[in-house]
Amino acid sequence: MIIAIDGPAAAGKGTLAQNLAQHFNYAFLDTGRLYRAVGYAVLQQNQDPSNEEIATKAAKAFDPKTINSILKNPALRNETTGEAASKVAVIPGVRAALLDLQRNFAEHPFFEDGTPAKGSVLDGRDIGTVVCPNADIKFFVTASAEVRADRRFKELKDAGKPANYDEILAGIKARDERDSNRATAPLKAADDAKILDTSNMNAIQVFQTALDMIAVDHA
Ligand code: C5P
Repeated sequence: MIIAIDGPAAAGKGTLAQNLAQHFNYAFLDTGRLYRAVGYAVLQQNQDPSNEEIATKAAKAFDPKTINSILKNPALRNETTGEAASKVAVIPGVRAALLDLQRNFAEHPFFEDGTPAKGSVLDGRDIGTVVCPNADIKFFVTASAEVRADRRFKELKDAGKPANYDEILAGIKARDERDSNRATAPLKAADDAKILDTSNMNAIQVFQTALDMIAVDHA
C-alpha cells in the first residue's frame, strides 16, 4: 500500500503524512528532506546550489543505508536549506539520482530501525505524478500562500526564533514559483489526486478529512 502526498511548502502535508503513517502503521518518507540534504551538502562545500555538477554529485553520493541518520540533521529544517533544496531540485541529474531511492522505499518500506513495513507514506512535490504514479491513494494538500506564511511565522515565533511575515511570504511565493515552473517533475496535482485545501482547517480536521476520503474510496 502506497500513500502519496504532494503539495506546496507549509500546506500541512508533512503533518498529514505522519498522522496517516502512524494510523496505518506504515513507514514514512519526507522526500523534501532528501532535496534538503542535497542542498545542505552543497552549501557545506561553499558552493552554489544551482551548480549542476556539484549538486548531482552530492545527490549520487547518498547511501540508502545511512539515509535515516542523514535526514535527521536539524539544520535541514531551516529556510536557507529549504531555498537551497528548491534550487537543487530543478536539476534533472539530482532528481534522477533521488528517484530510485524514493521508489525503492515506496515498494520496500522500512521503519527507522530497519524493520520492514506493510505500507508507505511519501510526501513531496511529485510523488503522485512521477515517483509513484501507481500509488493506491493520492492527496494534493494545499492552502493559500498567506495562510502558509502565517503558519510558518507562528511556528518560528513559538520556537522563539526571529520571524518576519513579509519575508516568509515572499520566500514561500518564490519557492512555489520555482517548484511549479521547473521543466522536470513540477509541483502539480496528479489527475487522480484528492485535493485537500487546508486553509480553514487545523491538523486534526485535515487528518479526519483525509481518513474520510480514504474510507469512501476503499469501502
Ligand atoms: O517539502 P520541503 O519544503 O521540505 O521541500 C524542499 C524543496 O525540495 C521543495 O521546495 C522542492 O523544491 C523540493 N522537493 C521536490 N520534490 C519533492 C520534494 C521536495 O522538488 N518530492
